[in-house]
Amino acid sequence: MARSLNKNFVVAIVAIAALLHSSKAQTTHIVGDALGWIVPPSTDTYTTWAANQTFKVGDVLVFNFAAGRHDVAQVTESAFNACNTSSPISRETNSPANITLTSSGEYYYICTVPGHCSGGQKLMINASAAAASPAPQPSSPAPQPSTAPSPLNAPTPTPVTAPTPTPTPSPTRAPVTYVVGDNMGWIIPPNTSVGYQNWVRGKTFVVGDILVFNYAMNAHDVAEVSKQAYGSCDSNNTISFNSNPPTRITLTTSGEHFYICTFPNHCSAGQELAINVTGTGTAASPSPGTATPPSPNTATPPSTNTPSAPSPTGATTPSDQSGNSAKSLNAAGLSITFLAIIVIDVDMLQKLRFLYYNNKADFDILAL
Ligand SMILES: *[C@@H]1O[C@H](CO)[C@@H](O)[C@H](O)[C@H]1NC(C)=O
Ligand SMILES: *[C@@H]1O[C@H](CO)[C@@H](O)[C@H](O)[C@H]1NC(C)=O
Ligand SMILES: *[C@@H]1O[C@H](CO)[C@@H](O)[C@H](O)[C@H]1NC(C)=O
Ligand SMILES: *[C@@H]1O[C@H](CO)[C@@H](O)[C@H](O)[C@H]1NC(C)=O
Ligand SMILES: *[C@@H]1O[C@H](CO)[C@@H](O)[C@H](O)[C@H]1NC(C)=O
Ligand SMILES: *[C@@H]1O[C@H](CO)[C@@H](O)[C@H](O)[C@H]1NC(C)=O
Ligand SMILES: *[C@@H]1O[C@H](CO)[C@@H](O)[C@H](O)[C@H]1NC(C)=O
Repeated sequence: MARSLNKNFVVAIVAIAALLHSSKAQTTHIVGDALGWIVPPSTDTYTTWAANQTFKVGDVLVFNFAAGRHDVAQVTESAFNACNTSSPISRETNSPANITLTSSGEYYYICTVPGHCSGGQKLMINASAAAASPAPQPSSPAPQPSTAPSPLNAPTPTPVTAPTPTPTPSPTRAPVTYVVGDNMGWIIPPNTSVGYQNWVRGKTFVVGDILVFNYAMNAHDVAEVSKQAYGSCDSNNTISFNSNPPTRITLTTSGEHFYICTFPNHCSAGQELAINVTGTGTAASPSPGTATPPSPNTATPPSTNTPSAPSPTGATTPSDQSGNSAKSLNAAGLSITFLAIIVIDVDMLQKLRFLYYNNKADFDILAL
């Protein structure tokens, strides 16, 4: 009796060790973490992401994206560099696209939707040979799995990185300053049917974030309006109004926010912005003051110093601010990665972030 128990126990230990070993040997990489596989906020987003990962044979890449709006194509190095989508090595259109790295070497992935690769939706990774002590299968006695588990009520091999997609609130992160339209600024956009939807795509807006509208004074303005007024470009009833560029707006409430220019025909020509703002989560947010508007500080010139209207694009020092935005976003992404290693639940949060992107992509239905 005691003997057979001991024997079972030893078998169980071997089986568990094998499980642990194999789960260690194979890593699942969620490409872009919470961001997923999108046209990223910064063109080096995926380079930065990959720089902090170690890829080896047997690892799995998981590309989360809105099917139909993105895809994943493996391409050659030259096609990757040129964003040439004409003859990919392989292409996945279903999401998530789980790709196992079967050999060592360099892998190049792009999205083949026009403009996406050049917008930064591209990923190069370098997979090394599998770890020094491979032994993926328990070599000698190879007990049937059914005999092994009894004494310890053995764990089923649940992959650490594969949670159920349970909706939960999105995690908190540091406030981000977004320059609306980036270098384009706040203008009648060149493509009036797309407007600012491409700019919104892939961004998350959280209470505490700041929108900066750069525009030429007396040529444009910024009004927050209701959803209905946004839909009809009605500038008669504004929630707030500002005509003093650059206009900085701190997002203080969650939900949908709508902004238009009230100059005649500007809104109907696409100078309108709709965003979804999520809450910061708990009131016990670690960094005090993150949800409050930062003092109108160094980043933007005081509006009183702009007596004459700048150029029609009205981009007032946007590069500085978009750089800051990108950095903050990257920093948020990195810290999310770090937490995911420790807390499985955080990975679920990431799933929700992905669902959120999907919904936003639905909103962007007219764009690309
Ligand atoms: C990788 O992570 C480390 C530690 O978190 C950080 O110091 C480093 O800047 C990161 N590297 C990149 C390329 O983001
Ligand atoms: C794209 O790749 C295809 C096939 O390799 C090649 O024939 C074509 O010339 C390339 N296009 C450009 C713009 O480089
Ligand atoms: C990929 O790794 C191999 C082996 O370490 C190295 O020779 C090669 O230069 C790497 N490629 C890139 C693009 O970093
Ligand atoms: C892809 O990987 C994710 C994360 O590991 C997992 O949840 C999902 O079930 C996988 N999908 C397929 C089709 O294998
Ligand atoms: C805004 O007000 C003007 C003048 O009162 C009116 O003519 C116009 O129809 C209003 N516009 C909308 C969209 O309600
Ligand atoms: C905000 O999100 C909701 C739910 O996903 C969606 O129905 C709505 O269209 C979004 N609104 C905007 C302005 O993106
Ligand atoms: C505007 O964007 C839409 C959607 O991407 C595209 O179909 C259309 O050709 C673009 N129009 C112009 C003038 O570029």
